[in-house]
Amino acid sequence: MSNIGIIVGSVYGNAQNAAEEAQAFLTNQGHDVELHVDPDVSLFDEHDSFLVVTSTTGVGDIPPNLELFYVDAKDTCPLINNKKFAVIALGDSSYGDSYCGAGTLMFELLTELQGTPISDMVGIDAMETFEPEADVLAWLETHQSEF
Ligand SMILES: Cc1cc2nc3c(=O)[nH]c(=O)nc-3n(C[C@H](O)[C@H](O)[C@H](O)COP(=O)(O)O)c2cc1C
Repeated sequence: MSNIGIIVGSVYGNAQNAAEEAQAFLTNQGHDVELHVDPDVSLFDEHDSFLVVTSTTGVGDIPPNLELFYVDAKDTCPLINNKKFAVIALGDSSYGDSYCGAGTLMFELLTELQGTPISDMVGIDAMETFEPEADVLAWLETHQSEF
């Protein structure tokens, strides 16, 4: 069982709701899970592995609640030495090239920090589902043991 930090990026609450469901599910599976809605880079020292659940805003942009964290992490580069991570990105494919842009940026960041991805970024498309949390839970069913 792992100590997992969930890093949330959300504007209107969809990603936060999905992240809260993920926390409940992972806790139920026996993991120790903390949700970070107003994250600080010090969280990288506090957990064995990380799950990012973020939406995208603007044109491929990171939600405001994650902006400072993202910039700080780019500046200070706190290496996570092969700790496992996954990125689940809520987006909308009608935005074309900027689809899940924030998820892509977060995946690149955690790769730069030398984390080990559990899988490729998982994109959840608002054009295909009204229940992103169901897709998040389905993905976690298969992958929770890899954290
Ligand atoms: C103003 C605005 C801009 C958006 N820009 C993008 C975008 O560039 N790429 C994308 O994939 N989705 C984009 N979306 C879609 C959201 O990421 C998607 O609706 C998501 O479910 C919102 O989750 P949230 O409630 O956690 O913010 C945008 C939505 C809004 C309202």
